[in-house]
Amino acid sequence: MTDYKIAPSILSADFARLGEEVDAVLAAGADMVHFDVMDNHYVPNLTIGPLVCEALRKHGVTAPIDVHLMVKPVDRIIPDFAEAGADYITFHPEASEHIDRSLQLVRDCGCKAGLVFNPATPLDVLRYVMDKIDMVLLMSVNPGFGGQKFIPGTLDKLREARALIDASGRAIRLEVDGGVKTDNIRAVAEAGADTFVAGSAIFGTDDYQKTIENMRAELAR
Ligand code: DX5
Ligand code: ZN
Repeated sequence: MTDYKIAPSILSADFARLGEEVDAVLAAGADMVHFDVMDNHYVPNLTIGPLVCEALRKHGVTAPIDVHLMVKPVDRIIPDFAEAGADYITFHPEASEHIDRSLQLVRDCGCKAGLVFNPATPLDVLRYVMDKIDMVLLMSVNPGFGGQKFIPGTLDKLREARALIDASGRAIRLEVDGGVKTDNIRAVAEAGADTFVAGSAIFGTDDYQKTIENMRAELAR
């Protein structure tokens, strides 16, 4: 049976109470914390950096932190996030001058490495770096904002990524990010995803536990 993971995106959390919000989703059954880093350059929004990641660790968060870098360039900030307590560090291939080198840097810093593909970015580079990645993240919205609608073409792309991962024989997670909700998580899993980012679908509800339970029920159906 697939080991599904639910990763709430804290982009939709109440930032004034971030520690409590992260505690609450983890207590509600989330598997990891999805941490969206935006630089107002690679994407048109500005969010949080290594200081906030470190603060969550100091607050007592022990769950894996899945850092999604939407910044350009990426290399300078990678060691800072590793030191701040990141587990996964993923970046967009367009944002790195030397993709192989950046992946190696993530690993040399002791983190798991991943590549993120925007809805219209082809998966071509993947086959050259399969041995250096631990996660493939497919964006199912254009990056920059929470609360957008899932782009249906992602389902075909997920099937394509799933085939590449299976052919590699490596334990690479296939994560999907954007517009994932209780009513489409099942279709997303059937297309091959095993890790689900959900921001507004979880933080936008009153009962995080109920929402995560409903998502798991859909996955188990
Ligand atoms: C978008 C971010 C997502 C976002 C998802 O650029 O990478 O992680 O928070 O939010 P929802 O689940 O609301 O689409
Ligand atoms: Zn994200």
